Amino acid sequence: MKYKIAVLSGDGIGPEIIEQAIKVLNAVGKKFNHEFEYTSALVGAIAIDKTGNPYPEETHQLCMNSDAVLFGAIGDPKYDNNPNATVRPEQGLLEMRKRLGLYANIRPVSTFQSLLHKSPLRQDLIEGADFVVVRELTGGIYFGEPRGRSEDRKKAFDTLVYSKDEIVRIVKLGFEYAQKRNKRLTVVDKANILATSRLWRETVQEMEPDYKDVTVDYMFVDNAAMQIIQWPKKFDVIVTENMFGDILSDEASVITGSLGLLPSASVGIHTSVFEPIHGSYPQATGKNIANPLATILSAAMMLEVSFDLVEEAKAIRDAVDKSLEMSIVTEDISGGKAYKTSEVGDWIAGEI
Ligand code: IPM
Ligand code: MG
Repeated sequence: MKYKIAVLSGDGIGPEIIEQAIKVLNAVGKKFNHEFEYTSALVGAIAIDKTGNPYPEETHQLCMNSDAVLFGAIGDPKYDNNPNATVRPEQGLLEMRKRLGLYANIRPVSTFQSLLHKSPLRQDLIEGADFVVVRELTGGIYFGEPRGRSEDRKKAFDTLVYSKDEIVRIVKLGFEYAQKRNKRLTVVDKANILATSRLWRETVQEMEPDYKDVTVDYMFVDNAAMQIIQWPKKFDVIVTENMFGDILSDEASVITGSLGLLPSASVGIHTSVFEPIHGSYPQATGKNIANPLATILSAAMMLEVSFDLVEEAKAIRDAVDKSLEMSIVTEDISGGKAYKTSEVGDWIAGEI
């Protein structure tokens, strides 16, 4: 079969890591007889530089007309250090999520046996940890209006808003993931303070009777931040709002030993997007040192989630596991010799 993939490499290390994922996909195509057709488009700082728009209309049309989107990373220090910039690369990512209706971001967190010693946490605490963060992605404080500055510019404000419908559709997905896994759902909120969180709780409580096989618990986000680090094994599926999910998923990545290992899938109404959870790592741009595994594993998620190619996805994961066992890894996780980004990609593609 033929699959049309939109490739949005973005900024910083984006192009280098995407290149490795494509190598790996091509190896899968060859082995399993699939044709992957790639079309590239601009997003992020590079899109601003070339078109003035971080998510050009052409890019959106390509995403809409593709079977899946493979996304690298966005962000550039020239914008991070300039709070007055009126157009920012991140707006491109947010606009893409919004226009594609990607209301759910799925971030699986699991440990790799051969990397347990790389985690800053004790091995006995993390061995076997395996959970999924289901993050709401198109609502909350990331998008709420009004936002901005007061006239005298001495005050700034953001708005955290959620409707019941938005909560229901993401929590439903959380329940469904829990049903497919170990049947435990943790709802993370700040219901002791926030009205939106109280609406989340009320809504989940109403949904509970429809999912009698799932055990639900409710946790304040500060407490969850602590428990994820202290007892990562107790979690199965975490469902939470946009910003809490952003923060907790970065925190969770520490468990695995490197932010460079965690893939994600963003799904919703239109074409799904697959991207590593890490950023554009500008300091490493062009140096061929960034870890490509999160992106390669995102490609595996794409095969599974969008194309239903389960065996093919497994072939990628097995090859990644093997590369870790054999220490064919980049400097962020290597104990001794560090391999280059492209060497890791070549090795995994070759293994497949
Ligand atoms: C992520 C990133 C983005 C977010 C940034 C780059 C806008 O941190 O995907 O987690 O905050 O959602
Ligand atoms: Mg983030």
